[in-house]
Amino acid sequence: MTASYPALRLRRTRASSWSRALHRETLLTPADLIWPLFVTEGRGIEEPIASLPGVSRWSCDGIAARAREAVALGIPVLALFPNTPHGLRSDTGGEALNPDNLMCQAIRTIRDAVGDSIGVLTDVALDPYTSHGQDGLVDAAGYVSNDDTVAVLVGQSLNQAAAGADIVAPSDMMDGRVGAIRAALEREGYPNVQIMSYAAKYASAFYGPFRDAVGSRGLLKGDKKTYQMDSGNAEEALREVALDLAEGADSVMVKPGLPYLDIVRRVKERFDVPVFAYQVSGEYAMIEAAAAAGAGDRDALVLETLLAFKRAGCSGVLTYHAAHAARLLG
Ligand code: PBG
Repeated sequence: MTASYPALRLRRTRASSWSRALHRETLLTPADLIWPLFVTEGRGIEEPIASLPGVSRWSCDGIAARAREAVALGIPVLALFPNTPHGLRSDTGGEALNPDNLMCQAIRTIRDAVGDSIGVLTDVALDPYTSHGQDGLVDAAGYVSNDDTVAVLVGQSLNQAAAGADIVAPSDMMDGRVGAIRAALEREGYPNVQIMSYAAKYASAFYGPFRDAVGSRGLLKGDKKTYQMDSGNAEEALREVALDLAEGADSVMVKPGLPYLDIVRRVKERFDVPVFAYQVSGEYAMIEAAAAAGAGDRDALVLETLLAFKRAGCSGVLTYHAAHAARLLG
């Protein structure tokens, strides 16, 4: 039962800022943000990424500084991506298993800098380590082979867990990898390491700047359509999520973000589990380009888009705007 106009005037509660604050249904806080960081070799290095204005790769000392910054801003989790030196990339991506690779160094650096006051999320996939830029092992016919890749991803996850990762996040889209990783984590003594699976990850045109950042864009021939999802599919996303949950994922991710909020909403309504979204590099670049062109106010665009993820049902968002947004919110 509801009144009708003029007894009911929906503008009444919008008339003053205190009332708008009182009636706001969705809140965005720094605790909703996951900050992706790109790691590079060396010391004292900051390498700006041209296609991601305002984002840089950092050597480990810079990563430590970002970790302290994140703690001060109330950001709960950092997501790490390595720019593996090209000489260490190979067909099989074996550097992913090296206990002293860039990723492991960065995890330990963060621990040394801020202890366990922040969570570390690590990307599980081979593209930053392969000489062909694919997320897995490529067979003689040029196909990214599923089961052989899963075996390496299990080793990669254990390597990250041993270095101190709190959440492993498989972004590779191989079938069966969540179950295999979960079983290995249990067996090897890491029962509390979480799995946030990139469950519904689409073969998207929005990943370009990320591939620049991890140095795989120039290496990649072709696309990732035999493993990442087709943009037209939503039912299939629900099946992917159901499988990953059944295999032991603690939370699931939808990626990219804004163009796929319908998927976020459907996953949330169907499964009632923690859902995250990745506002990916191309989305970040789009907002920056719009602001630079005078099409909108940067801060307002950032906060409005991030709030949209929460409204759609996300528990949190991976975003390159995390530090800036946390500053605005603080
Ligand atoms: C690859 C991976 C990608 C991203 C995260 N992990 C790119 C890809 O699938 O090619 C993209 C993130 C972004 O664009 O910000 N495992």
